[in-house]
Amino acid sequence: MKKQSLIIDCDPGVDDALGLFLAFGSPGLELLAVTTVGGNVPGDITARNARIMRQLAGREDVPVHAGADRPLVREPVAAAEFHGEGGIGDMTPFEPRVGNAPGPAAQAIVDLVMARPAGSVALAIMGPMTNLALAMRLEPKLAAHLGPVSVMGGARSEGGNITASAEFNIYADPDAAAEVFASDCDITVFGLDVTHQVRVSEDRIVAIEVLGGESARTAGELLRFSQRVEREIVGWDAGPLHDPCTVAWLLDRDLFGLKPCRIEVETVSDLTRGHTAVEFRVDAATARHHWAVSVDAGGVFARINASLERLP
Ligand code: BDR
Ligand code: CA
Repeated sequence: MKKQSLIIDCDPGVDDALGLFLAFGSPGLELLAVTTVGGNVPGDITARNARIMRQLAGREDVPVHAGADRPLVREPVAAAEFHGEGGIGDMTPFEPRVGNAPGPAAQAIVDLVMARPAGSVALAIMGPMTNLALAMRLEPKLAAHLGPVSVMGGARSEGGNITASAEFNIYADPDAAAEVFASDCDITVFGLDVTHQVRVSEDRIVAIEVLGGESARTAGELLRFSQRVEREIVGWDAGPLHDPCTVAWLLDRDLFGLKPCRIEVETVSDLTRGHTAVEFRVDAATARHHWAVSVDAGGVFARINASLERLP
C-alpha cells in the first residue's frame, strides 16, 4: 500500500509528544517534516521538545522546522500548567544532537507540499494554526494543493477547556484558525467532543509502561505526569488524550465517526474568543469541513502502542 505523506505541525506538549511517537513508529506514513509553533510553551522550547522525541524515537531522518513563536495578532497564551514549564511534564530536558532544519516552518510547509502532486501531502495540526495561516499567505495556491488537513482543536457539545466557549488551540490563535477555516483546505477536526472520549486510564498507562524501550518509557512518564495534573487541576481520574487523534485518523479512517459541517471561528468577542461555530446544516456533498463525533478510543491506543513497540 502507498504510504501517506505527512507533515506534523505541533507544540509539544505532552499529548503532542504521544502524537509524534505514533507517527514516528507508523510504517504507513512518509513523514516529510515536523514543524513547530509556540503554544503550550514558547516556540524555541516546542522545537527542542520535538527534536528530543525525534532523537528518542531514532527518527533523525525527519527534519524539524521551528515556526511562529507568537500568534498572528494576539499576545501568546501558554498551557504550562498542563504540560510542565518545559512542556514535557517532569522529564529533564536535554539539548538534542541535531538542531533545527534551516528555514521557517511556514516556508517548509509550502515547499514540501507544492513540490508534490496536489492532494498527496496530509497535514496534522496539533497546536495553534499560525504556521498554516502564514504558509497560505506565502503561497495562495497552498490550500487547494494540500491533501487532508487533520486538526486537533475546537469544541461544540463539550464546551471549552480554556474558557467556557473555547478550546486552547483555537483560543490561542483564533485569527489564524479563522483564516484556515475560510480557505479551500479540506479539514477534518478532532475537537474536545471526541478527544474527551479518549481517556488515559490507569490500565492504558500500564499497557504502555510494560512495552519496554526508551520511547515507551518516555511516553509512560509523560502520561503519568498528565494523569497527576488532570487529577489535581480538573479532578478527572483519567484525563483526555487529544493530539494523537489527528494521526490516528490518517492511519485508520474507521476509528472515527465524522459529520460534514461548516466551521467558523469567533474573532471579535472577547467573551467567546476562539469559539468554533459548527454548522451541520450543510450540503454533505460539497462540505469542506468534517467534525468528529465518535471514536474507537481502544483502537487509538492500540495504534499508539503498536508504534511504541516498533520504536527504540
Ligand atoms: C490542546 O491544547 C494543548 O494544550 C494540547 O496539546 C492540545 O493540542 C487541547 O485543548
Ligand atoms: Ca498540542
